[in-house]
Amino acid sequence: MAAASPAFGAPRRHFRIVDSTNERARELAAAGAPCGTVVTASEQTAGRGRRGRQWTAPPGKAVLFSAVLSPLDARHALLPLAVPLAVCEAVESLAPVRCQVKWPNDVWVDERKLAGVLIEAQPPAWAVIGVGLNVSIEPQEFPDDLRQPATSIGNGVSTEEALAALCERLDEWVEADRDRLLAEFRERDALRGRGIGWVGAGSENQAGSGVADGIDERGNLVVVSSEGERLSLGSGEVTLSSIE
Ligand code: BTN
Repeated sequence: MAAASPAFGAPRRHFRIVDSTNERARELAAAGAPCGTVVTASEQTAGRGRRGRQWTAPPGKAVLFSAVLSPLDARHALLPLAVPLAVCEAVESLAPVRCQVKWPNDVWVDERKLAGVLIEAQPPAWAVIGVGLNVSIEPQEFPDDLRQPATSIGNGVSTEEALAALCERLDEWVEADRDRLLAEFRERDALRGRGIGWVGAGSENQAGSGVADGIDERGNLVVVSSEGERLSLGSGEVTLSSIE
């Protein structure tokens, strides 16, 4: 069956408190929930981040969002790039900021993390698009042990306003063609030209360091290693260990 054009946000299931919206959306997706179904929560007790990390946010101060996209087809190959671009445009429609994407899919404002994306998929049946978007978290409310400093939209924006903007921009970016996605990602690439370290590359899980040089046609991160080698790093594979 060809994928329908999604209209994210309907139906919507909202929890005051839930373990993980991604977990609930996965269950709904596996049970055949329609494309565009959204799960939100005011609070999560077991919010998941990438690489098995936790994701926490004070109640009511972040968009905690998971959406069902189904079925998947070739158009969704760059979904991990499309989602942060939607977040960037949603935020910029609400506040006078410029967002960048730290490959593969963190959204940054002024070098601080504003949003994270966790996509969990069972291709070709479905993907769950998880977004944690900080809306009104005060600086002192972020945990001290964050790997990188975090920020919020602020500007008097409510979580419902941010959710509506996110759904609207996702409708468009999830359907965007490859050339447009790559071009927009390159405009917002926070890493290009910066020194980075990584772990987990290749069959031997190599660590390395070098300079980021954009993304290739498949959305992989291109780096020039300290040894002068040009490498393509896949997001399912490597973890960035440092950024200079
Ligand atoms: C990351 O940057 O590590 C990704 C964070 C993704 C967090 C969101 S919050 C809503 C959704 N439910 C989850 O359990 N995780 C995602």
